[in-house]
Amino acid sequence: MAVILNGTDSPYWDEAVQGLRHGKLVVFPTETVYGLGANALLPEAVGRIFLAKGRPADNPLIVHGAALDILIPLVSGFPECAAKLAERFWPGPLTIILKASPAVDKTVTGGLSTVALRIPSHPAALKILGDSGIPVAAPSANLSGKPSPTCLAHVVEDLEEKVDYIIDGGRCRIGLESTVVDLSGTVPVVLRPGGISREELEAVCGPVGMGGHRPDRFPKAPGMKYRHYAPDADLIVIESQEDTAGILAREAAKWMAKGKKVGALVYDETDCAADIVKKLGSKARPETAARRLFAYLREMDSRGVDIILVEGIPPEGIGLAIMNRLQKAAGKGRTR
Ligand code: TXA
Ligand code: MG
Repeated sequence: MAVILNGTDSPYWDEAVQGLRHGKLVVFPTETVYGLGANALLPEAVGRIFLAKGRPADNPLIVHGAALDILIPLVSGFPECAAKLAERFWPGPLTIILKASPAVDKTVTGGLSTVALRIPSHPAALKILGDSGIPVAAPSANLSGKPSPTCLAHVVEDLEEKVDYIIDGGRCRIGLESTVVDLSGTVPVVLRPGGISREELEAVCGPVGMGGHRPDRFPKAPGMKYRHYAPDADLIVIESQEDTAGILAREAAKWMAKGKKVGALVYDETDCAADIVKKLGSKARPETAARRLFAYLREMDSRGVDIILVEGIPPEGIGLAIMNRLQKAAGKGRTR
């Protein structure tokens, strides 16, 4: 049973810091989603992350640090492009992949020769990382395959029995995982879209490729091959088009006529008759939908919905990240 810390003033803070240093599992909030952390320098502790989540061993972890000097020893070189991106976007929702140094154990990288790095910006994340003074391997703090957790209740639901400490940091500001950019090849490639767009990256370091769109040509984040972010209910995404509202209404009516309990996630501008309707916010502010999405998917499951219909959004900016997670949750692009 985990000890729950209500923020950085908790009387258990020092115990959690020492625990993390010495191999305990500590869940901490970040600005994207909650992370399930272990000392990246202790392979046995890192191994416990995979057990707790039920995560396949070939899916590598992101290593988090409070500052560059913690992360630099983990890479065999820090190219100019990495330095520029770090300067512009860290602390923040960007993960950078570089060639790993011998200091990184293969439990962290899933056997790859590269390692993923991030300095998150949530104050509680920076404090636990800073106070422990170590690199911390941390995937999202959900059971493998489930939507990532964006508040304490989600973490408790999935992992309370399996971790040692959980730090409550409130609701995550962004709500979707970080943008992952691979800098280990000749051209930077986005492997997972997130809050920082390709255009923002290109403004700092020149042309950037998109991994997800050309699976035949570009490498992928190993984790992207698994079904992900998935609620128990079947999820159907209605891609943004002229008559989205009409299509949603007909789909909802069809499934309800078959006796299914239907949940709909739609934008404020759209009306939809379903058993449960949740509003994702205005289409003009997709960041709101990003922040709410994973919580709503979990809520639909807890309310026993059979089919979740989700209104799509144009795949631009954070909209691309939203559509990417929805397609994964619907099981598209799955190779196993
Ligand atoms: O926002 C986030 O990134 C959150 C917070 C906790 O930082 N973390 C997160 O971790 O989403 P995770 O493990 O759920 O997703 C990491 C993704 C996976 O798809 C994984 O395959 C990919 O990054 N990845 C990690 N290391 C990699 C590497 N060396 N090469 C390619 N992909 C890698
Ligand atoms: Mg994850």
